Amino acid sequence: MHSLLDISSLSKKNIATIFDYASSYQKKKRDSILQGKDIVIAFFESSTRTRCSFDLAVKRLGGNSILFDAQGSSISKGESFIDTIHTLNQYDVQGWIIRHGHAYAPHILQQETQSIVINAGDGSHQHPTQALLDAYTLYSKWGSLEGKNIMIVGDVLHSRVARSNIQLLSILGAKIFVSGPGTLLPRFLPNITIVPTIHDAIHEMDGVIMLRIQLERMKNGLIPSKREYARYFAINEAMIVKHDNLLVLHPGPANYGLELSMECMNHKNVLIREQVKYGLYIRMAVLKHCFT
Ligand code: NCD
Repeated sequence: MHSLLDISSLSKKNIATIFDYASSYQKKKRDSILQGKDIVIAFFESSTRTRCSFDLAVKRLGGNSILFDAQGSSISKGESFIDTIHTLNQYDVQGWIIRHGHAYAPHILQQETQSIVINAGDGSHQHPTQALLDAYTLYSKWGSLEGKNIMIVGDVLHSRVARSNIQLLSILGAKIFVSGPGTLLPRFLPNITIVPTIHDAIHEMDGVIMLRIQLERMKNGLIPSKREYARYFAINEAMIVKHDNLLVLHPGPANYGLELSMECMNHKNVLIREQVKYGLYIRMAVLKHCFT
């Protein structure tokens, strides 16, 4: 039994096991490994895909999910994060799936509870299950990520998806490239090739992960204008058609017209809907990894 707070707690073998579980759940669809277990899904930040797929994953595995949504909770009456944790802890639950706007909130929760904790996104820090489902989507097409060139494009600075993916894709042997405006790249990016614009390296890539510009985490002035951003860091259908073997991912929600044009969605190499579908199986697999 183990928690999943960040990618660094996973070995290459753990990842292979999680992928095996995910592909068996893709066929089997249900299991009873969480029978008799109560799991809090505590979301202090907005979500559609991650929250719904975790909720469904717990139910498909026979568990009971308790949804806590910070909006509409006693947080709005001034109750603190720690008090909220202790309140829900009184119900003797076996697990927590938590999303929070502050980095390391799941680690703080882990210090306050004996239960299993799964990080569903903490600030700009980590989003381990998103990285797992991204890698699994590519793995489903390629069979292995070893030696593949993958470029992460856009607002890397604010992206927990990028941070988890950089770690996970490296463990799986991919070569990682990053492209974005200088103001949206972290200062320290070890073992990663920085590319000035998407156009400079797209022809060498096997996959690209487009990121959402995280306006909610941004102060003004980090991008010159949306039009200029799109010119250097967006992908459109013509680019995808031109690079026949290139696979395109985006964690969603997408800002259409900014990092991605809407007509791309129907192209066979744009795997955004597959990512959503595989997200359910990966989250079932992660629950199995954590609870058995
Ligand atoms: C991501 C997140 O919340 O970090 N979305 C998701 O989980 N599917 C990416 C984003 O919001 O841009």
